[in-house]
Amino acid sequence: MIEVKNLRKEFGSKVAVDGISFEVKKGEVLGFLGPNGAGKSTTMRMVTGFLPATAGKISVGGADIEENEIQAKSRIGYLPENAPLYSDMTVEGFLRFCAEMRRVPDSELDDAVDRAIETCFLEKVRRQSVDTLSKGFRHRTCLAQSIIHDPEVLILDEPTDGLDPNQKHEVRNLIKRMGEEKAIIFSTHILEEVEASCSRAIIIDRGAIIADGTPDYLKGRAKNAGSLILRATGLPGSGIEGELKKLGEVSEVDVLKSNDDGITARVRAASGKDGDLAAAVFGMATAKNLTVEELRVEEGRLDELFREITRTDTED
Ligand SMILES: Nc1ncnc2c1ncn2[C@@H]1O[C@H](COP(=O)(O)OP(=O)(O)OP(=O)(O)O)[C@@H](O)[C@H]1O
Ligand SMILES: [Mg+2]
Repeated sequence: MIEVKNLRKEFGSKVAVDGISFEVKKGEVLGFLGPNGAGKSTTMRMVTGFLPATAGKISVGGADIEENEIQAKSRIGYLPENAPLYSDMTVEGFLRFCAEMRRVPDSELDDAVDRAIETCFLEKVRRQSVDTLSKGFRHRTCLAQSIIHDPEVLILDEPTDGLDPNQKHEVRNLIKRMGEEKAIIFSTHILEEVEASCSRAIIIDRGAIIADGTPDYLKGRAKNAGSLILRATGLPGSGIEGELKKLGEVSEVDVLKSNDDGITARVRAASGKDGDLAAAVFGMATAKNLTVEELRVEEGRLDELFREITRTDTED
């Protein structure tokens, strides 16, 4: 549904997007992660046709965003970063106006407005004017606007920003549900959101893609993924550390806590020994009559990977 090739955007001498390529199929939810200023919003604005690219190709449902602009744009629903709203309209008046702009046929207008209101939990404010809404409700009205014409493609720039935890949860589920029959791109700074809603994620840094894969794959790339946490008592910590280091399956022991009667340590496998590590550590503990209070494999965390691979000084 979405094909992006070698996308580039320059603002004067500043390169905001530096040769990004990706595809999103129907039934896929792609998460955009990256530090502030990485180029996520700029990429989304180009994909939706709001901002012309300096170079590169974008097509939506086979229609080129520049050559077949109307056709491509009609397939897209877009929640921009700073979504504009007409503050003196009521919620339902605004959504009706958006539906008309999106050329929803007159006979379907009422249904389209009701559906968007229901989907975005706006029932109790539907007759309220937009300028009296709280931030979260205003944001949800913008989200409702993006789905009013039931588009095949959704581009959502930080769709859960400013929502309370319950609404964040609802919107994540909504994205996941809608993702079953649409192609969705959404950006977020909340890494657990990626695990909750995305089939795939890309991490962007300084305008370029630096990681791309399923949430599980990305978590597996974190430095601590696959390491073992051992909490055991029965020998002084230094003694247990020594026993761990003797094992051929172990390459590294990070002592997290150690005292006269035990240790908490992170143990990393020697290369090619990942599958044997837990058994070897447990075998040593049994042989030394240790009491194992905890023994678990770390699955890796997205925020660890994020910090490991992105640079923080992006605004230079
Ligand atoms: N209209 C513009 N003129 C000049 N520079 C711009 C313009 N729009 C964006 N930029 C710059 O492009 C870079 C990327 O910005 P962008 O808004 O895409 O980042 P982002 O990844 O969405 O960040 P955030 O997480 O803060 O939303 C930034 O350095 C920004 O200052
Ligand atoms: Mg942004």
